[in-house]
Amino acid sequence: MTKKKGSMMTTRTVCPLLTAAGSKVVVVVCAVVLTLAILLFHSDELKLIQSSNFTYQFRNNGFGDSHGFQPPPKIAFLFLTRKKLPLDFVWANFFKNGDQAKFSIYIHSKPGFVFDKSTTKSCFFYNRQLNNSIQVLWGESSMIEAERLLFGAALDDPANQRFVLLSDSCIPLHNFSSTYSYLMSSPKSFVDSFLNVNEGRYNPEMLPIISQEKWRKGSQWITLVRKHAEVVVNDAIIFPVFKKLCKKQEVDKIVIQKEKYHPNCIPDEHYLQTLLSIRGLENELERRTLTYSTWNSSIPKGDKRSWHPVTFHHPDATPLRMKEIKEINHIDFETEHRTEWCRVNSTYTSCFLFARKFTPGAALRILKND
Ligand SMILES: *[C@@H]1O[C@H](CO)[C@@H](O)[C@H](O)[C@H]1NC(C)=O
Ligand SMILES: *[C@@H]1O[C@H](CO)[C@@H](O)[C@H](O)[C@H]1NC(C)=O
Ligand SMILES: *[C@@H]1O[C@H](CO)[C@@H](O)[C@H](O)[C@H]1NC(C)=O
Ligand SMILES: *[C@@H]1O[C@H](CO)[C@@H](O)[C@H](O)[C@H]1NC(C)=O
Ligand SMILES: *[C@@H]1O[C@H](CO)[C@@H](O)[C@H](O)[C@H]1NC(C)=O
Repeated sequence: MTKKKGSMMTTRTVCPLLTAAGSKVVVVVCAVVLTLAILLFHSDELKLIQSSNFTYQFRNNGFGDSHGFQPPPKIAFLFLTRKKLPLDFVWANFFKNGDQAKFSIYIHSKPGFVFDKSTTKSCFFYNRQLNNSIQVLWGESSMIEAERLLFGAALDDPANQRFVLLSDSCIPLHNFSSTYSYLMSSPKSFVDSFLNVNEGRYNPEMLPIISQEKWRKGSQWITLVRKHAEVVVNDAIIFPVFKKLCKKQEVDKIVIQKEKYHPNCIPDEHYLQTLLSIRGLENELERRTLTYSTWNSSIPKGDKRSWHPVTFHHPDATPLRMKEIKEINHIDFETEHRTEWCRVNSTYTSCFLFARKFTPGAALRILKND
């Protein structure tokens, strides 16, 4: 315990620049930006920045100066959580070793739940909760609404260029700098997306807006480039269909022979994938998730109730197991008879940057072994 407290103290010293309210941060950031701009203005480095094809679609809100100077692109880490972040200490360790100019944090939690020193040991999360959060019903479209609120809040910062959706049981597998270069070197989003026509989740009442041909399934845990995050937030056509037709039902109690019956269409596993397929953006995706999870193979697939990702407890998080997860380099998609060899911008690489579901005990073990 004392050891853990010690590491929290070191974290605290790193935070103020990032989380201290208002003016101080602005002044510091402005000063840094200005100094750099002046230093770089006539230098070769600036010419390099200007001539490269690495231009970002900043919203026109005065970010960057008239000479085209731009701060580094950021990764927005978007946490979707019920209340607290039980693994905040793992993420604090991750962010502590990162460059604070290169990331931002947003949390969607229960309405009214505040992240401060009474609810988290890590100052990285102070006041990072959305102020317009909603009550989420797991398995319903309110989950998607929460995701859209997270993307929307993060889009307000024009420096955010990659948007990573994370659950409260996710851990990072690599350090910040490796994670950053992995994500920034991909011009594509990472969206697990595949055909699954056998499950009957598609509902013909979705026609004509959503055709069966465009219906996709995939992991909820996605990473988007800015363009796709904008598509999600601006969508006023597909989402209302999910909202209307995807409601949780007492599945087992409903009389299945009813002709119009359709099982819940599980918005969090279909909406994003189907939206991007309808918008014709699938060629801008790496069709896989960056978040590892595994299922209990001893439970029959028909047993929907027990069909949840395996939770890693302290004894499961062995160094060997974690090493194996980090080294996975391909994924099999059974329904499509497709094997995806993991790539980033055409270069073969390991598949996963994050993993779930981990208990605090398991996460602590990993932290100690690192
Ligand atoms: C910029 O893009 C063009 C066309 O896509 C390409 O020919 C050129 O090599 C690129 N320049 C840099 C610096 O990457
Ligand atoms: C929510 O409001 C508080 C208090 O005004 C603010 O400090 C915090 O940054 C806001 N959260 C976000 C994500 O903007
Ligand atoms: C991050 O991890 C990579 C790969 O393991 C390593 O080469 C690099 O030195 C690490 N960076 C930091 C800042 O620890
Ligand atoms: C992807 O690879 C190409 C070719 O090597 C390179 O020109 C481009 O800059 C890379 N894109 C990113 C985002 O790194
Ligand atoms: C898988 O399910 C079986 C049967 O419910 C259970 O006994 C076992 O502990 C589970 N394994 C894991 C890794 O969760």
